Amino acid sequence: MGRHPVVPDPAGRRHGRRLRAVRRRPALAGGPRPHPALRERYGRAAHPARAPRRGPARDRPDPRGHGRGRLPLRLRLRLAEGAPHVSPFRLTRTLPEDATDAALRADVLTGLTSTPKSLPPKWFYDARGSELFEEITALPEYYPTRAEREILAGRAGEIAAATGARTLVELGSGSSEKTRHLLDALTGLAAYVPVDVSVSALTGAGEAIAAERPDLHVHALLADFTDGLALPDTPGPRLVAFLGGTIGNLLPAERAAFLTSVRALLSSGDALLLGTDLVKDERVLVRAYDDAAGVTAAFDKNVLAVINRELGADFAPAAFDHVAVWDAEREWIEMRLRARTAQTVKIQALDLAVEFAAGEELRTEVSAKFRREGVRAELSAAGLDLTHWWTDGEGRFALSLSRVR
Ligand code: SAH
Ligand code: TRP
Repeated sequence: MGRHPVVPDPAGRRHGRRLRAVRRRPALAGGPRPHPALRERYGRAAHPARAPRRGPARDRPDPRGHGRGRLPLRLRLRLAEGAPHVSPFRLTRTLPEDATDAALRADVLTGLTSTPKSLPPKWFYDARGSELFEEITALPEYYPTRAEREILAGRAGEIAAATGARTLVELGSGSSEKTRHLLDALTGLAAYVPVDVSVSALTGAGEAIAAERPDLHVHALLADFTDGLALPDTPGPRLVAFLGGTIGNLLPAERAAFLTSVRALLSSGDALLLGTDLVKDERVLVRAYDDAAGVTAAFDKNVLAVINRELGADFAPAAFDHVAVWDAEREWIEMRLRARTAQTVKIQALDLAVEFAAGEELRTEVSAKFRREGVRAELSAAGLDLTHWWTDGEGRFALSLSRVR
């Protein structure tokens, strides 16, 4: 495995470039400002200087997490510490603690002073954002999760046979719900490495899986998959899974850079399992991103709450409408927040006042839709050869398997 970029086994000290182990309880109190998601999770009491809390619910760790994630954090920590049989769960943080506030500030400053205004998608996923995304996956209009689950349920055995993976790395793992089909089918699996920026999702899912599968080494990485990902040294062959159509949330140039970086994590014999949502009827697509119950609208507006909380801004979420538009030329859904009236938003931490004209739109996310030949070409440009292509019965969503050329 020496061919892979490696995260040395963490033991609470610094390892190389900005790697830091947090084995269940990071020593955040008094330290530099952590990632917003971490702050949310591990208690803002350690940061009395931050913007005032806007309501208790948001700051409580994941009330509807999965499995043991339902318990209060402190109780879970105690359980984990008193129960050596669940010890295979480990969480390593590779997000630069001191740079994340800087990253949020830089992204918000650049995005809100550009024309048109935009924000990058990773800031959606604090604990509340992860929770709202889980609600989205259960909506009648949001077909991608069900379609992808159908493929995984039907093809997990083939995927296992084709890859013989001993390590499963999952990028943007979220709740890891659908992944269970793979975990069950991969008979020789030794390690599961979920990677996410949402510490609440990562901890809830990782601890639950570690408790159910004591045979498995679960090593969660709190990391940005677009930024110099390094993987732990675990047995090969490796299967890297990137599900949910999340690759569609990257812009084309970002996708190319991302796929090249994934290619660099793989050795001969390793594989990439990629979930891509497919081009289809515009009405079906728009409904999936603008549901009748308004959950997607709440998810979209959650990014405003993140900026309010983390940067002391005064966005009024109710002053914006959620809009989902199909761009037929670029074949992506674009999510926007449209100002209902002319307004000025103040962002304390940036010492910035942002003017919105009535009807002005802020682009929050794109979700690109794909065709087989496009996926093949993008993989190929990154040095990956498509070997399998599976769709659900209705042809809405595809899973592809590719290998290092
Ligand atoms: N794979 C899950 C979740 C998809 S939602 C599913 O298919 O249902 C996208 C997930 O990617 C979220 O959990 C989000 O927190 C994570 N994510 C988004 N941008 C990320 C980034 N730059 N680095 C790591 N994780 C990211
Ligand atoms: N990866 C998901 C997708 O593109 C993310 C997502 C679903 C999303 N619904 C959303 C992102 C609404 C922003 C707004 O399907």
